[in-house]
Amino acid sequence: MASQYAKDMMGNDASGHDWWHIYRVTELAKRIAKEEGADIFICTLAALLHDIADGKLNESEELGLKKVKDWLHIQSVDDDDISHVMEIISTMSFKGGGQPPMTTLEGKVVQDADRLDAIGAIGIARTFAYSGAKGSIMHDPDLKPRTNMNQTDYRKTQATPINHLYEKLFKLKGLMNTKTARNIAEERHQFMEEYVERFYLEWDGKK
Ligand code: NI
Repeated sequence: MASQYAKDMMGNDASGHDWWHIYRVTELAKRIAKEEGADIFICTLAALLHDIADGKLNESEELGLKKVKDWLHIQSVDDDDISHVMEIISTMSFKGGGQPPMTTLEGKVVQDADRLDAIGAIGIARTFAYSGAKGSIMHDPDLKPRTNMNQTDYRKTQATPINHLYEKLFKLKGLMNTKTARNIAEERHQFMEEYVERFYLEWDGKK
């Protein structure tokens, strides 16, 4: 089963890419697929496998992708389905930015599900967990959110989870491919706005 395989491969990475991230993305992908009329088998499989080829878990992303492909062959998945799943997981990675848009409806669905898991209550929790693992404090009113950074600046300069909401999470709503995901994103976005508003009020003892 692909879910057992994903569970065994993912481990407990503190960057938020653990098995439970895979679980949430898969549940969302199934829900969006149903609404959008996408192939649920492909979406489920691609969601379960989408982070296994990650460079962090493998010597290289190429080797990671090969590992996933070999596994799909061993499971006797159709060749067409294997190509489709491999195309999705190799193009949807966030790294490098500016990657080509997803070409199939199923790819759009899984990418949306992955991006949705970065926003809302879960997105906030993941951001704080990640910052804590990196040793960052949760907020510093003297550090303003950074705008127009390139990738190197982004990694080099100091980040706090509250600023990360502005630098990345609040921008994700605009990147959804499907109408269903846009609706979910809208609601999650609104929740994050309410959250930061409340956070600042409590920070200054006003709530
Ligand atoms: Ni992911």
